[in-house]
Amino acid sequence: MRRTLGESGIDVSGIGMGCWAIGGPFHNDNGPSGWGEVDDDESTRTIHRALDLGVDFFDTADVYGAGHSERVLGRALAGRRDQVAIATKWGWTFEEDTKYAVGGNDTAAYVRQAVTASLDRLGTDYIDLYQLHIGDLAADRAAELLGTLEALVEEGKIRAYGWSTDLPDRAESWARDGAHFAAVQHDCSVLHGSPEMLEVCERHGLASINRGPLAMGLLTGKYTTATQVGPGDVRGSGVEWMTLFGKDGRPSAAHLARLESVREVLTSEGRTLAQGALAWLWAVSDRTVPIPGCRTVAQVEDNAGALGKGPLTAAQVAEIAVLLGS
Ligand SMILES: NC(=O)c1ccc[n+]([C@@H]2O[C@H](COP(=O)([O-])OP(=O)(O)OC[C@H]3O[C@@H](n4cnc5c(N)ncnc54)[C@H](OP(=O)(O)O)[C@@H]3O)[C@@H](O)[C@H]2O)c1
Repeated sequence: MRRTLGESGIDVSGIGMGCWAIGGPFHNDNGPSGWGEVDDDESTRTIHRALDLGVDFFDTADVYGAGHSERVLGRALAGRRDQVAIATKWGWTFEEDTKYAVGGNDTAAYVRQAVTASLDRLGTDYIDLYQLHIGDLAADRAAELLGTLEALVEEGKIRAYGWSTDLPDRAESWARDGAHFAAVQHDCSVLHGSPEMLEVCERHGLASINRGPLAMGLLTGKYTTATQVGPGDVRGSGVEWMTLFGKDGRPSAAHLARLESVREVLTSEGRTLAQGALAWLWAVSDRTVPIPGCRTVAQVEDNAGALGKGPLTAAQVAEIAVLLGS
């Protein structure tokens, strides 16, 4: 299964690999922003296994692990750059040495500084998809960045650009005026559909890159009310936007109950729960590209296994909507 990123001609596998967790620890003023400790060797093996299994799209951000995710990804892809598409993001500033995420910078001058630094860390001379990471940036401020982004395309530093935002009006604003605007990255999963954003993507021919496709791991079924994520993990940080896990690092009981109600449909045709969650995303639109975060070889093998099984049927999607009351 393949997808194209908007009208850019960039052809990618039906899932990408999310690279937030493999960045390892970093923090901001509210606490941890990473997913706890990681093993870089396992991350590298995971990236290589993804490639072996036909996953050739990698999503990272400069701020993940305060530069570390880009460095690990760049090293792992050395010599294989022409086989993959790399998406990264800018907008959140950070200090690499202290692993501190400082705050946002939405100026055109900063885009140029950030792209140069990302190219260096990734060890490449072009980025396939360069995404604005400040999801709620005002549309008029974002409009001021389009000239610089188009210039970066012209210069060959990026092939296309995107915006990681959950706000359909922001996506609309760039879709109107951005010639090389190819993709919106937004939160979307069977537990949290986003029909309005999918509609914008379909109307404007944009790719819908789905973050959180496994509800930060909850949809894999491995978390129960008796388990919790480890220390230093953003999922247990109690930040205001974290609704999937509580401050104690335990998954939300309400979401676990919703998952149970659709388990049978998701695991049809021998799918694992993770594979069913990815299959749901492909079924709701032909523009979706889920990017499950993977930090082990076993996880990427499970997730890539979804590719061979394809989307759920329309009847299954309808059944899930009834079961979830959505
Ligand atoms: N604002 C933004 O732009 C933004 C925000 C969020 C995410 N993203 C992007 O979207 C990507 C994906 O989102 P996400 O990482 O938040 O969540 P996700 O993909 O829903 O969940 C990923 C996590 O689930 C667990 N997992 C993955 N596959 C598994 C499997 N087959 N079996 C068991 N556990 C599995 C792993 O964590 P554990 O092993 O620790 O459970 C993994 O880190 C990120 O990596 C990042 O690239 C972007």
